[in-house]
Amino acid sequence: MTSSSLNAVILAAGKGTRMRSALPKVLHPVAQKPMVAHVIETAQALGADAIQLVFGHGAEQLQSRLSDYAVNWVEQKEQLGTGHAVQQVIPHIGDDDTVLILYGDVPLIQQDSLEQLLSAKGDEDLALLTMTLTDPTGYGRIIRDSNGVITGIIEHKDATDAQRLVTEVNTGIMAANGSAMKRWLSALSNDNVQGEYYLTDVVAMAANEGVNIASSQPHSVSDVEGANNRVQLAALERAYQKRQAEQLMLAGATLLDPARIDVRGKVEIENDVVVDVNVVFEGYVYLAEGAVIEANCVLRDCRIGKNARVKANSVIEGAVLGENAQAGPFARLRPGAELAKDAAVGNFVEMKKTYLGEGAKAGHLSYLGDAIIGAGANVGAGTITCNYDGVNKFKTEIGEHAFIGSNSSLVAPVRIGDRATTGAGSVVTQDIGDDELGVGRARQRNISGWKRPQK
Ligand code: UD1
Ligand code: MG
Repeated sequence: MTSSSLNAVILAAGKGTRMRSALPKVLHPVAQKPMVAHVIETAQALGADAIQLVFGHGAEQLQSRLSDYAVNWVEQKEQLGTGHAVQQVIPHIGDDDTVLILYGDVPLIQQDSLEQLLSAKGDEDLALLTMTLTDPTGYGRIIRDSNGVITGIIEHKDATDAQRLVTEVNTGIMAANGSAMKRWLSALSNDNVQGEYYLTDVVAMAANEGVNIASSQPHSVSDVEGANNRVQLAALERAYQKRQAEQLMLAGATLLDPARIDVRGKVEIENDVVVDVNVVFEGYVYLAEGAVIEANCVLRDCRIGKNARVKANSVIEGAVLGENAQAGPFARLRPGAELAKDAAVGNFVEMKKTYLGEGAKAGHLSYLGDAIIGAGANVGAGTITCNYDGVNKFKTEIGEHAFIGSNSSLVAPVRIGDRATTGAGSVVTQDIGDDELGVGRARQRNISGWKRPQK
């Protein structure tokens, strides 16, 4: 056997008029990622040696949005049909290549469905991914002879009434030998109802050459569903999210309602994590064993430690929670926030670039930015680190077991010593030594004989 390269061809030249959008159709996102990027990543995961991206409309937007991907850009100036689209890549197809045809607007095609197609193809020259639908209206029909041998594909618009009864349809996805595909493509005509060059016409050509045309079926219908409008796009989003939820449950997560979580990125978990309803994951999120995410949280690029808990309505971004740590309800952790083991922040606490040491607590209504807070410290309600003078940011250090009185303003740069205390309402502008009490507020005066204003 010759070693053949896998050459994936992604058709993405369609305008997508029905999206009613300034954005090219294939850039519309599923789980925050352009549809075509899903297809590119699946081709990469499959081990494609080359990826041809056939584009037409919106070239600039496509190229800037997809600049991170190593694809060969092939322009199809006019959209004269799927066969015409693949003709554009003929110069980039090697004779021994296995050519795999994919679609930029069919984003949920799974790697194992394609692996099955490729193994069904084996050393044959052509294999089709087909499926059987109760309502095949609109699709190209797979035509088989009385022995079940595939002899061609007839487009719905070109089909006779008898052919329209066929329920096995063309998904559009196929794999072919490079030299055979080039030969067939060169012979296409547009003599049909739509006046298009149909890629599907290669099937009858192959049959006429006596090629044994293989076929296989995708794992699920959603693998081969496309999006022409935003209703279909929303359906793909739900199908994608259902898959993510199922994967998480099979990996050991309890999802209180699998229909009410969204994964827009990658979530890795250990066993026995629990995720309540309306939780959105973005970027890369890691949930260690026993972690609990309560309802209505957004977690983006963060790591939640063993048995840690994110309480309801919290937004956690670029942050780390250590073992048994707790945040929320209504916590906002911004990039660089880190809670050590057993640390806790409560409602309306915002943290940014701040380390909260082991067992330390900030229970209520605080802004903690650019701070290092020692183990066992207690940060009282209303504490604010004044870390910014309008130009520069400064650090606040709070020692171990320090006690920050309620409503303290800590004007950085400043250091509060180990076991030090600040009086409630203090504006702290000078360092406080270990074990000291710092009070930075006006002394209370009581004025006797004072009269309230009269009406
Ligand atoms: C195609 C198949 C049909 C199959 C159906 C599955 C053909 C002739 N027909 O029909 O058998 O059942 O898909 O959905 O192939 N495209 C280009 N350039 C073009 C034309 C199309 O890039 O010149 C792209 C489109 O953007 C789209 C894809 O190819 O992503 C399919 O084209 P479309 O016109 O939607 O094909 P169908 O008529 O649905
Ligand atoms: Mg069409």
